Amino acid sequence: MSAPRDPRKMGCDAGQHTAQDAGAGTGQEAHPHETHPLDNAHVASAYARWAPVYDLAFALVMRAGRRCVAAAANRHKGGRVLDVGVGTGLELPMFDPSLEIVGVDLSLPMLRRAAHRTREAGLNAVAGLAVMDACRLAFAEERFDAIVAPYVLTVLPRPEASLDEWLRVLKPGGEIILVNHIGAEQGPVAKIEAWLGKRSTALGWRPEFPWAVLGDWLAARPELILTERRALPPFGLFTLTRIKKP
Ligand SMILES: C[S@@+](CC[C@H](N)C(=O)[O-])C[C@H]1O[C@@H](n2cnc3c(N)ncnc32)[C@H](O)[C@@H]1O
Repeated sequence: MSAPRDPRKMGCDAGQHTAQDAGAGTGQEAHPHETHPLDNAHVASAYARWAPVYDLAFALVMRAGRRCVAAAANRHKGGRVLDVGVGTGLELPMFDPSLEIVGVDLSLPMLRRAAHRTREAGLNAVAGLAVMDACRLAFAEERFDAIVAPYVLTVLPRPEASLDEWLRVLKPGGEIILVNHIGAEQGPVAKIEAWLGKRSTALGWRPEFPWAVLGDWLAARPELILTERRALPPFGLFTLTRIKKP
């Protein structure tokens, strides 16, 4: 498939959400960790500010995690991969050309950069980029072989509802592949993260994000298999998590 040009025109096969309706709820039940002040409007405005400088600030320091996510997704040779929160598309060149990648993001300014990267690098594996809310995906059930979300879960106002939605569009036998920072449980780092957490609305992510969000979600779905949970460089700051849907 040819590389997409304008992210607003990169429709998904089951329709496309707009930046306006992306803030709407899903009607799903509330989850215990969803009391955090982040909301889609704040996240979108934070990433509109980050977009021009995002690559400069985050390309290098978070590269190892993107590589691990891509390496795991690349095992699904010839498969269909959904990249949720694709941002400026820093991970896109790391995917195997045999894959069919669809990237979605709430932020149009971030997606425009991903579209530019896709075009410039001739990334033919990228089949589409679209504005879409991670917890309200416009895809049919069991559509993807893998869902990847590098550095996204800690940004989402409704992480559990988003995970449920990713599970819905994942094929049986497929996997959810995540990398993100998990907050320290105690000590000075935990205190700093808690302090920073109070500013998460401005930052656009939750530095104090607890493992319990994932742990509790997994515990409530015993059919799922946690196949990997591994600390990554730099300094074990980030965690790779792989979850298989049987
Ligand atoms: C820290 S960036 C990660 C971008 C990219 N995956 C990377 O590795 O650089 C988080 C991205 O998630 C997007 N995002 C935040 N909330 C979202 C939501 N509800 N639905 C879709 N994308 C969202 C942001 O716009 C941003 O581009």
